[in-house]
Amino acid sequence: MTQKPPGLESLPQENVLVKIEEGIAWVTLNRPSKRNAFNPAIVYEMVQVMDVLEMEESARCVVITGAGDAFSAGQDLKEYFREMDAGHPMLRERLYRANSAWQWRRMMHYPKPTIAMVNGWCFGGAFQVLLACDLAVADEEATFGLSEINWGIIPAGIVTKSVAMALSQRKALYYILTGETFDGRTAEDIGIVNFAVPKDQLVAKTTAIAKKLIEKNPNVLRACKTAYHYTREMSWDAAAEYLAAKSDQTKFWDPEKGADKGMKQFLDEKSYRPGLGAYRRD
Ligand code: COA
Repeated sequence: MTQKPPGLESLPQENVLVKIEEGIAWVTLNRPSKRNAFNPAIVYEMVQVMDVLEMEESARCVVITGAGDAFSAGQDLKEYFREMDAGHPMLRERLYRANSAWQWRRMMHYPKPTIAMVNGWCFGGAFQVLLACDLAVADEEATFGLSEINWGIIPAGIVTKSVAMALSQRKALYYILTGETFDGRTAEDIGIVNFAVPKDQLVAKTTAIAKKLIEKNPNVLRACKTAYHYTREMSWDAAAEYLAAKSDQTKFWDPEKGADKGMKQFLDEKSYRPGLGAYRRD
């Protein structure tokens, strides 16, 4: 018999708060007094949170946001950098590995849809989380910045690579080299968030997007994400071959047999138009 994976009750709910409402897992980075900077405690707790939510059936979409007036001020300069640099190299190595594990390795290929809800300050390492989420909504007054240049480091972790993938060369280098801050509206203009809205509409807008995602076939949603990330790095020929195989695999493993249902409802029953909405999933 397979062992039951740890559930929500196993989470400390200290540095990261998790609640699930109507299929949406609201994950709140919870160090508001330090602007939700990523210290070792948050890093290790987030690894746990993402692990638990992956298997938690009531969580169909994950939203990541911050407590107080910050999304996150990025890596913790004291606890993540200074103290780790001065400590045992293996502890530093382990922390960096855990940080990559949740911030992008796990997030980028997370089997459920993810949304970053940027409610305030978003600096440095927080870009890694923002850009690893599938979608993002920001308070139009939120402040974003690649501040690393201002204190003598490069945007490391995987920030420079994420920014290079998401922005044009002109925009990426401008913000990396100047460290200039920009607001949520600009974040929408340059394409690192989907929507910038007034603060009082942030939760409603995020909820509306999450609900759209939750209505979709989760098996196919997962395959769409995987296919997107892998094909970006492939040659055209390899991508065509991969997508053909992935498409067959997705149909084969789909427990609700969505492709058959959709085909039947469109071609035989003539009861719906795939261009205009989802097939009946019952
Ligand atoms: N690492 C460690 N501590 C941080 C932090 C970070 N990245 N960001 C904020 N804090 C701490 C401050 O040291 C302060 O701690 P204290 O109360 O013990 O003095 C507390 O959080 C509040 O910060 P403060 O600067 O007073 O808040 P603010 O609202 O005036 O400004 C920011 C918010 C985000 C603009 C500012 O804190 C800042 O520039 N942070 C650094 C951002 C950064 O460069 N991140 C990149 C890291 S890779």
